[in-house]
Parts: sequence; C-alpha cells; structure tokens
Amino acid sequence: MFAPLQNDSFLRACLRQPTPHTPMWLMRQAGRYLPEYRATRMKAGNSFMGLATNVGYATEVTLQPLDRYALDAAILFSDILTVPDAMGLGLSFGAGEGPKFAKPVQDEAAVNALAVPDMDKLRYVFDAVTSIRKALHGRVPLIGFSGSPWTLACYMVEGGSSDDYRKVKTMLYSRPDLMHRILTVNADAVAVYLNTQIDAGAQAVMIFDSWGGVLADGAFQEFSLAYTKRVLAQLKREKDGQRIPAIVFTKGGGPWLQEIADAGSDVVGLDWTVNLAQARAQVGGQVALQGNLDPNVLFAPPAAIQAEAIKVLDAFGRPQRADGGWDGHIFNLGHGISQHTPPEHVTALVEAVHRHSRTLREPA
Ligand code: CP3
Repeated sequence: MFAPLQNDSFLRACLRQPTPHTPMWLMRQAGRYLPEYRATRMKAGNSFMGLATNVGYATEVTLQPLDRYALDAAILFSDILTVPDAMGLGLSFGAGEGPKFAKPVQDEAAVNALAVPDMDKLRYVFDAVTSIRKALHGRVPLIGFSGSPWTLACYMVEGGSSDDYRKVKTMLYSRPDLMHRILTVNADAVAVYLNTQIDAGAQAVMIFDSWGGVLADGAFQEFSLAYTKRVLAQLKREKDGQRIPAIVFTKGGGPWLQEIADAGSDVVGLDWTVNLAQARAQVGGQVALQGNLDPNVLFAPPAAIQAEAIKVLDAFGRPQRADGGWDGHIFNLGHGISQHTPPEHVTALVEAVHRHSRTLREPA
C-alpha cells in the first residue's frame, strides 16, 4: 500500500546496522524558522491547531524541511498535547503564548474523571500519518511521536508551560496517589495512541520526556521512567515483518543514562550536556544514540556550525567497532530547533554531517 523505502539509513542506524553516512533529522524540523511554514500557517488562519488538524496542511508542512534539506527522516507534524486535548482538557494556543488548557487537572475530582480518550477524537492525527506516508513516496521513513506520561502530566496539572513545576510537584509530593493515577491513564493513552500511529503508517515512534530532567533522583524513576516503561511494554514493535524502532528522549536525562537504556527502547535521545563518547562506551552496545548538538550552535556562522557538528560526530567516533560490529548514531539537536534559526545555517549543518560522517566509514 505504501511505496518501498529509498533511504532507510535512519531505520538502520536505530537498529545498529551499517549505514553509508550518519543519518540525521532535527527535532521541530517543521516550524516557524521556515518562511514556507509561516506562509502555510497563515493559510490555516494563523493557528497552530488549524495546521495540525487539517490533513492537507499537516502533510504540506511535514514535507517542507525535506524539500529544502537532505534530511534522513520525516516527523509527523502534530503536538504532544493532542492527547490531553482529546481527554477533554480544552487545548488552545494564544497568539504569541505557549499552550493553555481550559480545564487543568488540579483536584481529586478532575483526576478521577480522567480516562483513556476515544481514539476517534484523534482521527485527524492518524489521517495525517497516512497522508504523509503516502506523500513521502518512500523518500525517507516517517517518525510518529507522543509526549511521555510525565511530560503530559506537567502540562495537564500546570495548565500550560511552567518555570518551576510548582503545581505538578506539589501534587506529586503531597498526593502521590493522584499523580500515579494520572500517569497510569496517560501511559495507557500514549500506548494506544502510538500503536494507532503505527497502524496508520508510522515507521518509528519517539517518546518525548521533555521534562523528566526536572525531577529529583528517585522521583524520576518512580514518576517518569516507570511510566515510559509501561508505554514501551505495550508498544507494537513489528509491522509487516519490519521492526518499528522506539526512541526515548529525556531532556536532562544524562544522570540516568543506564536506567533509561535499560527501559527497553531501541534508541536513547541525548541532550547537549551528555558526552557522546562516554554514553556510547556505557550503553552503545545496547541501544543506538540520537543527538546531541546544542541548538544554539545554529546561530553561529556556517564555519563554526560545521566545526561543532564534526565535534559531535567525532565524539561518537567511527560507528564500526574494532570487532567489526556496528553501533548506532543518529545525528540530531539536543532539543528542538529555535524559531530564530537562519534556514541557510541548517543547509551547512546537514552538508557537514553527511560529508564528515562518510569519512568516519573510510578505512583507517
Ligand atoms: O518536530 C517536528 O517538526 C514535529 C512537530 C512537533 C511539534 N511539537 C510542533 C509544534 C513536535 C514533535 C512537538 C513536540 C512537543 N510539543 C514537545 C516535546 C518536544 C520538546 O520541544 O521538548 C513539547 C514540550 C510540546 C508542547 C508545545 N507545543 C509547546 C510548549 C508549544 C509552544 C511553544 C512554541 O515553541 O511555540 C507548542 C507549539 C508547537 N508545536 C509549535 C510547533 C511547530 C509552534 C507552533 C506555532 O505557533 O506555529
């Protein structure tokens, strides 16, 4: 039903198989730094949800960065907050503001009312997955995604973005029973959401634990990682004989690298605070690694961007080990690309990653 894959380097690296270059994509690669994205956004009533809920527009903006740059994967254009929206929390994005929920989850009654939403409410996401997969014609694989149960809970309890996570941590420490109940519902919702994306055509899935790193040691394992594991345990890992790699990205997760690698994903995403050589030595035989250029590097001139990209590639090193086997590296940023990034700087980055990573595969 879908065209055969022409560039499978991303999927191969996720599975720690040989690739001719280090595949790359960028978190938030479709977004406001691209003038063509801003133009489509205007057509959609200048609204993010207007884009995300329209299959045609969501397909158009997903392909925009691929038409400009030689990226090795596409990522569904949507948002992590679609799931709590479908739970009835009333998501909106005010002009120039972050996300807001009309009905945040701040008392016991609201917690008890939570349930795994009917996936029909998220039909627009699954329709976008299928439409994007068709429009790709097999150019590169399509990544589906979700927020982690903990990261979704942060937005659901805070009612939007937060500087200090005061409300969600107050609940966590004073009513851990309520927090566990939210996280259980979220984990089961995320699992069925990702599995439905896989059914619709997603070829890999990524769990964004963007706010795992704000938790204390001990709390991270109990309130974030345990529920990421609950999602992973329910995921379809194969479709039509093809492995569907699962990626877990915990921003600020460096201190827990081994525990995250043990959670059961195929790939672990790393932010820029992590030393890639050390991470590979520790868990590279177990999982592929994705990352980890500081997105702010993209504000520097092209020559500096290229030098910093080479440092990241060299830190991981030659993907082929001395024993002949391969470890997996997917080049990415350590967090989402900034809306203030000059688009032509991304051209310099992609070129440097592909060129230099080929030299890491030449005989020594
Ligand atoms: O990577 C991609 O290109 C796919 C699309 C994608 C978006 N959001 C589109 C988006 C993905 C993977 C996300 C994930 C997401 N959303 C996360 C996890 C990743 C991370 O950055 O840590 C989080 C925490 C969110 C929540 C969210 N969505 C916030 C806080 C905001 C507002 C802040 C901002 O950057 O404007 C959004 C809106 C959003 N999601 C935009 C985009 C392109 C900006 C939308 C716009 O106004 O046009």
